[in-house]
Formats: sequence, structure tokens, C-alpha cells
Amino acid sequence: MRTGRVAGRVAFITGAARGQGRSHAIRLAEEGADIIAVDLCGEITSVEYPLGTADDLAETVRLVESLDRRIVARQADVRDAASLETALRQGVAELGRLDIVSANAGILSSGSLTDLSELAWREMIDVNLSGVWRTCKAAIPHLIAGGRGGSIILTSSVAGLKAYANMAHYVSAKHGVTGLMRTLATELAPHRIRVNSLHPTQVDTDMIQNDVMYRLFRPDLANPTRADFAEASRATGLLPVDWVETRDVSAALLFLASDEARYITGTALPIDAGALIT
Ligand SMILES: NC(=O)c1ccc[n+]([C@@H]2O[C@H](COP(=O)([O-])OP(=O)(O)OC[C@H]3O[C@@H](n4cnc5c(N)ncnc54)[C@H](O)[C@@H]3O)[C@@H](O)[C@H]2O)c1
Repeated sequence: MRTGRVAGRVAFITGAARGQGRSHAIRLAEEGADIIAVDLCGEITSVEYPLGTADDLAETVRLVESLDRRIVARQADVRDAASLETALRQGVAELGRLDIVSANAGILSSGSLTDLSELAWREMIDVNLSGVWRTCKAAIPHLIAGGRGGSIILTSSVAGLKAYANMAHYVSAKHGVTGLMRTLATELAPHRIRVNSLHPTQVDTDMIQNDVMYRLFRPDLANPTRADFAEASRATGLLPVDWVETRDVSAALLFLASDEARYITGTALPIDAGALIT
């Protein structure tokens, strides 16, 4: 008999090769869930840091299986609805059901509004907003067919609730995710499917631990380091921390996924060390 806060459930996670997506897979598996994991495992032209790889996704598989949980992992692009539908169809066929959706895949790039290229704008909206919509669109029929309700958790950002300079496309996409969450919560409530969003501040992952982000946060320095970035990052919040860890975001996701949150829907939950009230 499986035990845990999401025992016997199946979770679909996008962007699961590394970072927060991998952490979500591990945390949910620790609490008894099986996982359907997808990741692009490739690069995107306007993104200046390397994305997750097939080896990273294989490592997520190894980590979930080491917890004695099952995982179906596929390469899929949230810009391509068919690849998501195929991965979900195969995952649900193998694992038997779908209960939890984590629309987590995302990218980051920067530039002032007038400097942003058409490509950077288009790729950002396609991945970080339309990709979340496609993830939900592919998953909802499985949740409804299960007849057991469900929990959809969209990964937005602090940038989904407040503005930052030099990333208008990211801020717009993440605000869009907040609107999508509220609309979906309204549409899906009759099916007992809850929809909420996560709004992390800086999280210690490869998305921000790179020279591009260091320069964005420290335009005053020619060659900013991780320590220089940490100083600027810490200043964005109230609590005296440089950033939050992936497990802090996973803790919030697990709560929203579990029955402890059974009457919580339409909520935008910050994991922000107080950044939103600064
Ligand atoms: N790291 C932060 O500071 C931070 C803060 C707030 C919100 N977020 C959001 O959290 C989510 C997870 O980011 P992370 O910090 O784990 O970064 P990450 O770069 O480590 O992980 C993102 C994963 O998404 C995958 N991905 C990118 N484009 C994809 C696509 N088109 N299809 C499928 N997979 C794709 C990448 O390959 C990567 O494995 C993102 O939505 C991001 O915007 C991150």
C-alpha cells in the first residue's frame, strides 16, 4: 500500500529535465505519485543559456525510479501540441490515470522593449504563455475523463504579478499565465479540477545562474560573478536570502496538488521571500 500526500496519483510535468521541473517530479514521487515527464531537450534560438538535455531528462528518470516510483519520460516541445498529446496519451496508457498537471517549462531572455527582436518576443510568448495553454489543453480531457477532479498548477513568476524592466516579453507572458489560471479555474470548477499558479522569485537554477542574468542584475559591473548576482538578487526580497531553492517551490506545488488544498482554486501563490511587497 503506497503512502504519501499524493499516493496513487499521476502527475504530468513539463520542463522536467532539470531545475524546478525535476524537483517537482522528485517531490511528488517522494509522496507516492507516478510521473509523466516531458522536456524539449534542445535549444531555442533567442535563449542565450543552454536548456535541459536528454541526459538531464534521463537523470530525472533515474531519480524518480530510485524512489520506487514509475515515470514515463518523453522529448516534447510545448510549442508543439501534437508532441504533448502523444506523450500524455502514452503516459496515461502506461500509468493508468492523470490527476496533477505542472505546466512548468519556460525560458528567459532579456532586452529593453525597443531592443527585443521579433523572434525573441515570439519565442517567449510561444513557450511561456501559449506553451502553458497547450499543456492544459492536452491534459484537461484526461482529467475530465478520469472523473476524479484534479489539480493544475501553472508556473508563473513574481514577474506575473509585477513589472521588471528589460523583460517585457517575459513579464507579459507570465502575467498572461496568471490570467489563464483564473479563467481555467472558472471553467474547470464544475469538474472539481482546481487551477492555481506559482509565483517564485529568483530560484537557484540554470535559468538564472548564468552570465546573461548576472549582467542583467549587475549592469554596473563588467564581469559580474555569482556572488555579485547574489547581492543584487537578495536585495529584491524582504527575507535575508539570496534566492529560493527548487524544493521551496516544490513544497508549494505539492501542497496545491494534494487534498490539503482541496478547496483552493484560482489562487496566485507567491514563493517570493517578500519580493512582492518591496
Ligand atoms: N529560476 C527562476 O529564477 C525562476 C523564477 C520564477 C519563475 N521561473 C519559472 O520556473 C519555470 C522553471 O524554470 P527553471 O528555473 O527550472 O529553469 P530551467 O531552465 O532549469 O528549466 C526549464 C526547463 O524547461 C525546458 N524547456 C524550455 N523550453 C521548453 C519547451 N519549448 N518545451 C519543453 N520544455 C522546455 C528546458 O529544457 C528546461 O529543462 C519556468 O517557467 C520559469 O520561467 C523561474
